[in-house]
Amino acid sequence: MTDSFGRNIDYLRISVTDRCNLNCVYCKPENKWESHDILTADEITRICGIFAGLGITKIKITGGEPLLRDDICGILKKIRALPEIESLTLTTNGILFRDMANEILRCGVDSVNFSLDSPDEEGFCKITGKSGIADVYAGIRKALDLGFKSVKINFTAIRELNYDRIIPIARMAEKYPVWVRFIELMPMGSGRNFTPVYTDEVKKILEDEFGVPKKLEVSGNGPAKYCQYGDFAGKIGFISPLSECFCQDCNKIRIASGGELILCLGHEKSVNIKELFEKNISDAEITKIIEEKIKEKPLNHNFFRKNLNETEMYHIGG
Ligand code: 5AD
Repeated sequence: MTDSFGRNIDYLRISVTDRCNLNCVYCKPENKWESHDILTADEITRICGIFAGLGITKIKITGGEPLLRDDICGILKKIRALPEIESLTLTTNGILFRDMANEILRCGVDSVNFSLDSPDEEGFCKITGKSGIADVYAGIRKALDLGFKSVKINFTAIRELNYDRIIPIARMAEKYPVWVRFIELMPMGSGRNFTPVYTDEVKKILEDEFGVPKKLEVSGNGPAKYCQYGDFAGKIGFISPLSECFCQDCNKIRIASGGELILCLGHEKSVNIKELFEKNISDAEITKIIEEKIKEKPLNHNFFRKNLNETEMYHIGG
């Protein structure tokens, strides 16, 4: 599937729930708990099938916290059974991961991303409103033991919340073969109340501590750029939606937990596919509608526009 700027769209992120067992202050403040109709397991697999037919080869399951769904393994297995899908990955906060890890591997998940904004319990509690760092570590260790293709740790760098955790989180890649990725906080939902730390500043902090890194030519599903610091067991990556506009290479679309097609994080919602299902529209028709809508995928996220995006990330899928 090609958009109107010639970009090949082959990567779908689908949020399977907007519920989360953490309350990260920049993502989902407790008092703004929304509840709405989310996609059923059948709807999710039907959507994935339609997109597979349109040329999607990589699917990421995200949330909210996807492991809160008790039908998550059934969903994963059905997606894995689609012959077009080459890569099936999952993002999680890690709290429930350890006990589900074996089954998740058996469902055919290739790689797991852990969202972790502090490597210690004090910082973890401050940001998430909950304790649980030991569970997250147990999950990460289990993922490494089981041999998932890659185990990534996503750290959203936020001046007010975890600036002093930048070096400690990088040290996880010193010890373990994990890919620690620093993500610039995007001005979405509650994230607009906090200050991002830009990639250049993170790199400076890391360079002062660990020396000049070697740039790596690793290409993943997304826009991360990777570096090798010293003799670290793992890699360090940088995802810079603000300081480096990577939109020209964007290969991604999203489905929010309510079924809305999201063509770009920095833009309004597109068509709601759950509603099309409810109107008994056929897969062939829906395919045509999506092909039309894809043409509206914008060139840039335009995060710097005023009044942008009240939508919270937990709904769209972080
Ligand atoms: N900018 C960048 N990342 C965000 N996340 C949530 N909100 C934002 C934001 N405004 C990330 C979390 C986690 C995933 C669920 O989404 O840090 O990695």
